[in-house]
Amino acid sequence: MEIKSYKTKGEIMIERAESNFGTFEYDYIDNKNSNVDLTLLDNVQFIYELSLAELELKALGIDFEVTNGLREFKILNKSDKQIEKIRKKGSYYKTVAGQFTDYFQIIQKNQTRSVNQYLTHWFYPYKGKFHPQMIRALINIIGLKEGDTVLDPFSGSGTTALESQLLGVNFIGVDISPLCVIQGRVKTESIYVFDEIKMIKNEITANVAPNLFQTNENYYNFLDKLTSNERVKNFYILARLLAISDNSRRNRDFSNSFLKNIELMLASVKDYMLIKEKLNLRLGEIKIEIGDARSLTLQDNSVDGIITSPPYSIALDYVQNDIHSLKDLGYDILKIRDEFIGVRGNGINRVYLYNDDMKKSYKEMFRVLKPDKYAAIIIGNATYQGQEIKTVEFTIEFMESIGFKLVKNINKIIFGLYNVMKKENILIFKKGKL
Ligand SMILES: C[S@@+](CC[C@H](N)C(=O)[O-])C[C@H]1O[C@@H](n2cnc3c(N)ncnc32)[C@H](O)[C@@H]1O
Repeated sequence: MEIKSYKTKGEIMIERAESNFGTFEYDYIDNKNSNVDLTLLDNVQFIYELSLAELELKALGIDFEVTNGLREFKILNKSDKQIEKIRKKGSYYKTVAGQFTDYFQIIQKNQTRSVNQYLTHWFYPYKGKFHPQMIRALINIIGLKEGDTVLDPFSGSGTTALESQLLGVNFIGVDISPLCVIQGRVKTESIYVFDEIKMIKNEITANVAPNLFQTNENYYNFLDKLTSNERVKNFYILARLLAISDNSRRNRDFSNSFLKNIELMLASVKDYMLIKEKLNLRLGEIKIEIGDARSLTLQDNSVDGIITSPPYSIALDYVQNDIHSLKDLGYDILKIRDEFIGVRGNGINRVYLYNDDMKKSYKEMFRVLKPDKYAAIIIGNATYQGQEIKTVEFTIEFMESIGFKLVKNINKIIFGLYNVMKKENILIFKKGKL
């Protein structure tokens, strides 16, 4: 099956710049005005994004002045080193001193055309995904550097995993859901087994027939016979789960979806390999395991930062949402529900259980984080049975009571579908010395 290859506006710009100058020297001048050192990416539109863009510059040690209606910056302490830092690490900028940033080039590699779903981010339609650009910024803002280790104890679809990997920051991810662990691993590990994945593709696609793919046992046994490589298996398991989700949520034909997904997934993995090569990225090491945020198996004072978003929406039932995939993986749904924070219990009891579970999780975060380091928590108030549950206030109060200090509280107000306002908070805490 052929995949249509079409270019984004940015890719066309990059190509034009490259061909104009012969070699890829990043010497394309985006703005002739010498006062302009930094231009924002076109997609930066919300106030909280500007706050993050400014915080990021400060964290990278850049002194700046904002110009042109908040869309451009002038660097006051300009040096090659500062420019290089923004070019390699920055999250909100298209160009720095006339050169395209790494991030601008990374986001051009997008097979789905959905904003923010570049590289392998799109691999499963997981509800409640982070905004990857925000995570890249937070990694910088909380001062994480190549070789440091960041933890996400509710790693979900693996957004923090992929963004840390891109910045050369090591990542430890934990999630109670086996579906999440597969997502995170496939997004970050497939680049290491691309040839092996391709090697068994024909055998898999030639067997797309209802009799083989109807039952999971047939499929999983079939995969076991084809390969013993867990990373390769996970790739094809996720392709199947994606087709199951397309079929159950969008009523799409399973076989068509499965075939199309495999091609798109492969193209995305290839994109990742190409951009890694082109930008000479040194990737972070990624470790994602099934686990419980309430009792982590990590040592005390062992991680350099935490970036996470707990299941704050008591109303969003993660288990129910992915029930088809979890069943296909062979899990006992009732048993899984019992461990999931936010879906246990009913009525007011659900809120009590949630608070209790979150207290345990926050204590664990405190225990494993090194002193003087930061935990960024993205959380919002949930509405449950018609009542607002003040999760944000609860989080701040509890975190401060166990030794964290709130150092930043950014309101993240966005307008979603049908202009419905969604509010979340980005809370940054510092762990005080013991
Ligand atoms: C808001 S989502 C995280 C989404 C993630 N930030 C992303 O970008 O995809 C919360 C996650 O917490 C997980 N979770 C629920 N209970 C848990 C527990 N006891 N331990 C670890 N993870 C849990 C859920 O499976 C879900 O993936």
